[in-house]
Amino acid sequence: MTDDAVVEVGDHPTAISAEHDPAVVLSLVVPTYDEAGNIEPLLRSLHGVLTDSQVGFEILVVDDDSPDRTWEVAGNLAAELSGIRVIRRIGASGLATAVTCGWAHARGEILGVIDGDGQHPPAVVADLLDAMADRTDVAVASRHVPGGGVSNWSALRRLLSRGAQALGLLLLPGTVGRVTDPMSGYFLVRRDVITGTDLDPVGYKILLEVLARGDVRRVAERPYVFLERERGESKVSAGHYVGYLRHLMRLRLHPLRSRALVRYLVVTALALLADALAFLWIFDVQGWNLTRSAAIAGEVGILLTVLLHDLWTFAGRAARSSLDRFRRLAGVQLALGVLLFLRLLVINTLVNWFGLGPLAAFLVALAAVTPASHLLGSRLTWRGVRS
Ligand code: GDD
Ligand code: MN
Repeated sequence: MTDDAVVEVGDHPTAISAEHDPAVVLSLVVPTYDEAGNIEPLLRSLHGVLTDSQVGFEILVVDDDSPDRTWEVAGNLAAELSGIRVIRRIGASGLATAVTCGWAHARGEILGVIDGDGQHPPAVVADLLDAMADRTDVAVASRHVPGGGVSNWSALRRLLSRGAQALGLLLLPGTVGRVTDPMSGYFLVRRDVITGTDLDPVGYKILLEVLARGDVRRVAERPYVFLERERGESKVSAGHYVGYLRHLMRLRLHPLRSRALVRYLVVTALALLADALAFLWIFDVQGWNLTRSAAIAGEVGILLTVLLHDLWTFAGRAARSSLDRFRRLAGVQLALGVLLFLRLLVINTLVNWFGLGPLAAFLVALAAVTPASHLLGSRLTWRGVRS
């Protein structure tokens, strides 16, 4: 084994640099702990698949100084197979931080992760690379799309995995809800999607960290069947589930998230106030009829919502192009416009069928339709932005 085949690191990098080597399209990280019996067949198979894919690649094994010297087995292979690099982390542990450490040392335009125990079929990486072709930001190997599955997990493991997913959907719907297999440890991500943020994952769920903190807009999924382990055993323990919960809470309360949330709520309140004041002025002062007054007032609220969200709430999220920005604004206008029409129906029904006063009808309709309009608006337009 050549000495530089294994790089010893003690650091714990969380920032991913924007630079990459144009000759390296894919940097695939393989996190290992006590995989000496699995790593050789995995690396040989992976090296074959990536060689056949005709793209420039590197495979970074990130081993946490395994007692079974997995780093040494991988280092010997690095001397034989080009494109394999081995990082031996001293004094650090954890699957997810091993991945971020590997990505911090990677040179590729696309970064990825695959398990080192052979349970993630190497052939699927070709499908993920294909999926990354048309401006996709993240391509996830999923067990939960047609053609995917798990070999024979115990009912308990299936239950725990699905339970963890359901909990994630509850706490982080805008993140966990974007993929069918948020627990997947097998995916590719475009480097520039995660260079603007610090990745500070906990435990096993690196995909959660990428989806929550990255500038992820387009996600693709490809099926895979989670295979049986041939040697060694899973390192997943009860502690990992506690870590997962901690990770979810941290992402839920993340300053950026709550800042966006506070601004989101302030804009909603301002838009509602503008809507009501515009109605009062047009209907009461100018004396225009009820429907026209409510329609114009509603449009004032929509335009204010769109402008303030774009210029203030989500100011950090640069539109990829003016077409993106136009699409997003048109999406809000359409979504909230449909609900404005509903609101006019509710107002007229309340006044003409239930004899409510115009102002009371306006306020009841405004209160009734607002939650739906903002929920719809945020889903349709600022996708991937935490609400
Ligand atoms: N460097 C490092 N440090 N690697 C680790 C550590 C660690 O602390 N813990 C585990 N690994 C490596 C293992 O050696 C293996 O290559 C890979 O991470 C997955 O670990 P397992 O313990 O085998 O996890 P699993 O098979 O039960 O679950 C895997 O698949 C699930 C479904 O995709 C993991 O990838 C889960 O994150 C994933 O949800
Ligand atoms: Mn495994």
